[in-house]
Amino acid sequence: MQSYPIQIGYLGVGRYLPPNILTNAHLERMVETSDEWIVQRTGIHERRIMGEGESVLSMATAAAREALDRAGISANQITDVRVGVNTHLRWPSLATMVQNELGIDDGTASDISAGCSAYIFCVDSIYQKMMTEWLLEGKKSYALAIGVDGLSLITDWTDRQTCVLFGDGAGAAVIGPVESGGILATTTRAQGKYGDLLYLTPYIKPSLDDPEKMTFHTRTGTIEPLIYMEGRKVFPVAVRSMMAEIKTVIEKHNRISGESLTLDDIEYVIPHQANHRIVSAVAEGLKLPLEQVYSEGVVKYGNNSAASIPIGYVENIGKRPGALEVDVAFGAGFASGAILRRNPS
Ligand code: UT7
Repeated sequence: MQSYPIQIGYLGVGRYLPPNILTNAHLERMVETSDEWIVQRTGIHERRIMGEGESVLSMATAAAREALDRAGISANQITDVRVGVNTHLRWPSLATMVQNELGIDDGTASDISAGCSAYIFCVDSIYQKMMTEWLLEGKKSYALAIGVDGLSLITDWTDRQTCVLFGDGAGAAVIGPVESGGILATTTRAQGKYGDLLYLTPYIKPSLDDPEKMTFHTRTGTIEPLIYMEGRKVFPVAVRSMMAEIKTVIEKHNRISGESLTLDDIEYVIPHQANHRIVSAVAEGLKLPLEQVYSEGVVKYGNNSAASIPIGYVENIGKRPGALEVDVAFGAGFASGAILRRNPS
């Protein structure tokens, strides 16, 4: 196995899922749908929806606290907070609000909007920066990568094509120098030409009275930004893009390291949990046995957007020591990306 001069990886992971459960039976009473249709087309049985007192800020902070606890790192050791989020349509950035909640009074913080791939984009930017600072300045540091979304805020609860898909939640990872395992390569991509297939109502002005409700006043009236998606057209691009990202991140690692890893060396994949059929199609396209692909999240939590992958980490803690794994995501923009990493041994 190749060794880098430095090793950067996960020291601890955490997540937050609202206790409030929305089942397919509930949805049958809200729109013209059936448990059978939802399970067959998506694999989803239930999802979590934020309730009283919960927000993207509270979920992100709770996930970050759990990750810090598991890492054994105190909040004031964190010098970079990056939050992947698509549902924080206000100022200041969610990352700075999390920084404040955790009592971090120095360092940097920023949000990244990259659809369901936003968490991967956060890890990619943290990793590149840490590598550079370590190699050029000899500086070692700790960062928080958080993926969070409250899609229930912008879901059109009258649109059966989309409202059955989404859930709320947050996941987080503490990133820093590690003894074993670690991130080997990251990659990101965006294809703006597909923007009109999956978007949130544009041209919005935040209301001053109740920003958590995501109601916006325009010059001509009040609008609520809602998700619009042409699911049938998104589906094949999602499958193709995730397959391509997995290959790209392996090739990138091989170029950097001189190794010759192939798909056969990948022991597990944690894909964005958009839809069970998409996950299965990616596995089939790459000839990966389904047991080697995480797919349990979508059943219980639906599509958690930016939170989907770090939520999945928690269910995989301690499994497969030393294994080579890939995280891969796809979402609005069409932004996609992947992380190649090795579990600690
Ligand atoms: O995370 C971001 C990326 N997003 C995705 O990856 C989502 C990608 N797309 C998908 O996952 C799938 O396209 C969906 C799950 C959204 C939809 O599944 P589909 O197999 O593509 O269904 P469809 O849109 O082709 O609809 C099939 C039929 C239609 O009826 P007709 O026209 O055949 O009579 C729909 O009107 O199913 C109907 N339908 C429903 N029926 C019952 C659509 N939604 C529902 C529903 N319940 N909830």
